[in-house]
Amino acid sequence: MTQTPPPPRGGTHPHPRARAEIDLAALRANVRSLRARAPHSALMAVVKSDGYGHGALPCALAAREAGASWTGTATPQEALALRAAGLPGRIMCWLWTPGDPWRAGVEADLDMSVSGMWALAEVTAAAREAGRVARIQLKADTGLGRNGCQPADWPELVAAALVAEAAGTVKVTGLWSHFACADEPGHPSIAVQLEVFRELVEYAEKAGVEPEVRHIANSPATLTLPESHFDLVRTGIAMYGVSPAPALGTHQELGLRPVMTLAASVALVKQVPAGHGVSYGHHYVTPVETGLGLIPIGYGDGIPRHASGRGPVLVGGEWHRVAGRIAMDQFVVDLGPVGGVGDGARGHKIEEGAEAVLFGPGDRGEPSAEDWAQSADTIVYEIVTRIGARVPRVYLHEDAGRSGTDVTQVE
Ligand SMILES: Cc1ncc(COP(=O)(O)O)c(C=O)c1O
Repeated sequence: MTQTPPPPRGGTHPHPRARAEIDLAALRANVRSLRARAPHSALMAVVKSDGYGHGALPCALAAREAGASWTGTATPQEALALRAAGLPGRIMCWLWTPGDPWRAGVEADLDMSVSGMWALAEVTAAAREAGRVARIQLKADTGLGRNGCQPADWPELVAAALVAEAAGTVKVTGLWSHFACADEPGHPSIAVQLEVFRELVEYAEKAGVEPEVRHIANSPATLTLPESHFDLVRTGIAMYGVSPAPALGTHQELGLRPVMTLAASVALVKQVPAGHGVSYGHHYVTPVETGLGLIPIGYGDGIPRHASGRGPVLVGGEWHRVAGRIAMDQFVVDLGPVGGVGDGARGHKIEEGAEAVLFGPGDRGEPSAEDWAQSADTIVYEIVTRIGARVPRVYLHEDAGRSGTDVTQVE
């Protein structure tokens, strides 16, 4: 029997499967709000790991427009890529490995973190080869126990840096450190780290170092600890409009607006009988006859598999939880007995092409990235940062001069 196919349905979005909208006006507003919290300090926009998944270059440029005078990355490769793309001004990077491109860093005018004698040796050699002065920042381990120079080794590093400075190979532009527990207000390590930082800065300055900037504050410290602001604050997560930790309050309470909205389009809607297993392992079985919606995004796109059975999605104006396991490319939501298959008289009419919003600023009642972090039992940093390259970023309000709906798509 020949059947006429139904008329095409669904959305008109240029990225029907999935997209991450990046609202650069929100990012600018967050930068301004963070600057107001640290009015006597410069602000470094931290855009490592592709701008926490938001896109390093557009975010770095937007942050500059809103008054961030520094840009920060972890790896030298990230910093060099930004410089090569034309990002002006100060760019600092801090995660160096022996054999990394120090000379390119010198030639690109990066501010390069030095945590130990091996790094000082490599950067001075690169500066000599390049015939230029390398800008370096000495990093102290004030208690994080990760990167940075131990207090016991600080005098040796400071002395060697001063020798290199006298020889004209380096200029020490900064003294800096990083907190371990700034996202736990009142944690005893915070006061200890601040005290150690003050002592190590004082030691270096007495020895003859004249740093342009002293800095230790990340987003949580910028938001909660004015005494940690010094000359510069390095903000990452808060700039993207996300609260660093539930203990600090929600993004609304902190005056921040989420920059990323992650959405997909429903790929298939179908009615299934009661007792139907859903997705790998059949960890969800339909309790009644119901409508299932297929959401074409999965852990291959960075949706955490740990949120299987829990992650919230806004479809048809209501939250639905992931039903069963999140797979590599897709997951399923149970739209409910009245939610499904096109009978408007029975409830919301959800069809293929309907928008499914995983997280966003909340204007339409959608979940937040924090909700996903809770569902996946992880930190919200991981939720936004892991959204993968297969999800196109769509930039809103890229032009600071215009407030309209300026949209750029990046595949
Ligand atoms: C050295 C350093 N500074 C600053 C930041 C920014 O931290 P946050 O995203 O909490 O602002 C990070 C990120 O982890 C970092 O590694």
